Amino acid sequence: MLLPATFLWISWLSIVSAGNVNLGGPCSTSDNRLQVGTYQFYSDCDSVTYCASNGTCAHRGCRKDDFPFGYAQDADIPPKCPKGQFCPDEMDACQDVLPVGSACQMNRDDQCEGPPNYKDLQDTTHRGLNVNGSVCLNNICMWSNVTANENCVVQNTAYIGYIAGGGEFIDVVSRGNCRVGLYCDSKSLNCLEEKKLGDSCDADKECSTWNCLASGFCGPDQALDHTVNSWIYAVVGLGICGGMFGTLIGLFFLHLKQRDAEHERRQQYWHEQNAFHQSVSQMREAARMSILSLQAGSTMYGGNNSDDSHAPILQNVFTRISTSGLRNCNVQGDDEEFDEFMVQQPVQFRRGDGRF
Ligand SMILES: *[C@@H]1O[C@H](CO)[C@@H](O)[C@H](O)[C@H]1NC(C)=O
Ligand SMILES: *[C@@H]1O[C@H](CO)[C@@H](O)[C@H](O)[C@H]1NC(C)=O
Ligand SMILES: *[C@@H]1O[C@H](CO)[C@@H](O)[C@H](O)[C@H]1NC(C)=O
Repeated sequence: MLLPATFLWISWLSIVSAGNVNLGGPCSTSDNRLQVGTYQFYSDCDSVTYCASNGTCAHRGCRKDDFPFGYAQDADIPPKCPKGQFCPDEMDACQDVLPVGSACQMNRDDQCEGPPNYKDLQDTTHRGLNVNGSVCLNNICMWSNVTANENCVVQNTAYIGYIAGGGEFIDVVSRGNCRVGLYCDSKSLNCLEEKKLGDSCDADKECSTWNCLASGFCGPDQALDHTVNSWIYAVVGLGICGGMFGTLIGLFFLHLKQRDAEHERRQQYWHEQNAFHQSVSQMREAARMSILSLQAGSTMYGGNNSDDSHAPILQNVFTRISTSGLRNCNVQGDDEEFDEFMVQQPVQFRRGDGRF
């Protein structure tokens, strides 16, 4: 199996493998070739031109990739070829797909015409086994239609991989014309069933998971390894819902508790106010009674003496307010009002301004 780092190195090489002759410059079609190890197409011309038959670099007539390399951001890029045609490696012009037995360029399965039953034969596993049921092996167009234990054609290609920091390794890619689900055995040249996970193997192509481990057994599919079991989705979903509802319920109870505390506080305040109001009423009553009795008993004493007679009652009221639990709660403007009330009322009482 090719490592991702290998692809990086191969693509880097493909960038530097293009020639450097610009549009209109001289070139030779005999220099067109596939690069050693990477099998990347090379010509004398740069990445936006091809070597025309008259020996000069001309504008390319088609492209293979959606995002071709080498063009400026706003440049006019050549078109992709329509269905039933292909763009050759030279990228000079679109051509019609080639019938079975025709010569094709290396690994260009798309240059070959598909079989009539292409829907049954085409590779839907995205492993590059064929394109539309056709395959280019040893530069000949074929169909991937060979059934189990029938003779097949195989093409083994050794790619050179480059390790970061220096060093090379060989990666052999083996392709055949067996139907999807079979592989072409290089020794017997017969199509054999692909092996399942855990079976012994010699090459990636033998495993249905496309991954033959160094230990000689078919390992898990590296491309599909990142699927997550459905129970993990369930656990994560439950976790999210649980977290959401837990927070909501927690906040609900917290709010309930705060509301009860506030309710109690207000009730206490009301009781205090009520008691205070009653005390004031009683005081007023007592004062009126004493004034009436004084007026009835003697006219020698004026209102000034009433201060002394009221002192114990005022003391009593003040003490009762001071014990209030509300004073210790530092919540809301009620306290402020109440404190003001507490400070001012005794002063007013002491003045003895005749309201009593
Ligand atoms: C060479 O051929 C190309 C493509 O056919 C053409 O565009 C170009 O003008 C030709 N150049 C010469 C010098 O004839
Ligand atoms: C596949 O091959 C068939 C038969 O040659 C052809 O009719 C069809 O258009 C091809 N499909 C694609 C996507 O090339
Ligand atoms: C299988 O494909 C080959 C070309 O590769 C073709 O000549 C042959 O007729 C096909 N066989 C069947 C049964 O379709």
